[in-house]
Amino acid sequence: MTPTIMRRMPPAGVAVFLTAAVLAACGPGKAGKEPAATAPTTAAAVETVLAPVPPMGFNTWNKFGCAVDERLIRETADAMVETGMLGAGYRYLVIDDCWQVDRGADGRIIADPKRFAGGMKALADYVHAKGLLFGLYTDIGPKTCAGRPGAAGHFDLDAATYAEWGVDYIKVDWCNCDDLDARQEYTSFRDALRRAGRPIVLSICEWGRNDPWAWAKGVGQLWRTTADIGDNWESVVWIIGANSRHADAAGPGGWNDPDMLEVGNGGMTYDEYKVHFSLWAIMAAPLMAGNDLRTMTEETRSILLNQEVIAVDQDPLGVQGRVVIERGYGGQVWMKPLADGSRAVAFVNYTGRELAQYVRWSQIGIPAGPARVRDLWAHEDQGVHTDTGKRYDERFEVKVPSHGVVMVRIWPGQ
Ligand code: GLA
Repeated sequence: MTPTIMRRMPPAGVAVFLTAAVLAACGPGKAGKEPAATAPTTAAAVETVLAPVPPMGFNTWNKFGCAVDERLIRETADAMVETGMLGAGYRYLVIDDCWQVDRGADGRIIADPKRFAGGMKALADYVHAKGLLFGLYTDIGPKTCAGRPGAAGHFDLDAATYAEWGVDYIKVDWCNCDDLDARQEYTSFRDALRRAGRPIVLSICEWGRNDPWAWAKGVGQLWRTTADIGDNWESVVWIIGANSRHADAAGPGGWNDPDMLEVGNGGMTYDEYKVHFSLWAIMAAPLMAGNDLRTMTEETRSILLNQEVIAVDQDPLGVQGRVVIERGYGGQVWMKPLADGSRAVAFVNYTGRELAQYVRWSQIGIPAGPARVRDLWAHEDQGVHTDTGKRYDERFEVKVPSHGVVMVRIWPGQ
């Protein structure tokens, strides 16, 4: 072991947390699918353990903005268990901006005493007792985007405070940071978290301003690649394009983050939300629900709780899928290779009318011959399709609704 690695080793106490982090990372019912829980020996390994697959959870911002309080968090924690979200893998419950109001004379960050009267430690305990993990939000600069106290000048104190409260995930924003070096700042924040001795997922949120895909792996476990998502089709289409350019950067331990989900917030059609969710899964994006989980419709549940699509996102191979066919008239075919040798394939239609789309096995990297197909939205086996590569009419073809998607999983062989 080189001296450099020695220096980067986690403090002894971290080892104790590692088992918990690995177990937590596996989530209910998922242990069999995840990488083995061997004890890592380097800090880099610690970080890989924190996010072997893209983090999943809920964040308050998209639906609630600054209207956050402890009642909402407790009710959301309850809902995450009752609706089956936790069972499906959504483990992090994250309070975004506006939970903090000030700093005390000792410099300690202060949670809003009216909205969080019981304090953050008690709230984290409640969340943990439900089997969930707890997350908060801060900013590298002196103030958050909503003008609340940021972390500047207090990285170590804040990291220690979060560790004391039982925080498992921290989203760190980039407002009021124009003159700072992002890589350096986020690295210092990461080091403060390490010194605090509790494994905490670091969600880097500098909106792709400073090319995080080039340096953020090993600093944080996820990094935003774009400006904020909006609850509309144009925003989702634009983000898909922007995030798709950085597929090389993603993999176990560190993920491109095209922002949190808008599914269920009302601004898009059912088909559009299915595109949103399918493409986040194909791109191995973190899946942070952003809707009111206490009042979800059946339609919203059928999207967020689609286990077959979630399995594509959470696949242990950890490859971000890519466009394999770009059709100039408004269609794309995406492919994500999966650990068992199968392929997830999404046919997307960006046009205003139904579109027939096709793919050849050679275009998704599977051998000529038979392959078993399953529709991940209809939850239906489609039988065996044979493409020997010899005849035009052997291609696999689907009809995709306007602003819609057909998503299948294809296993080579019978
Ligand atoms: C920025 C982030 C958002 C959210 C808000 C909170 O815009 O990108 O995700 O955290 O700040 O103020």
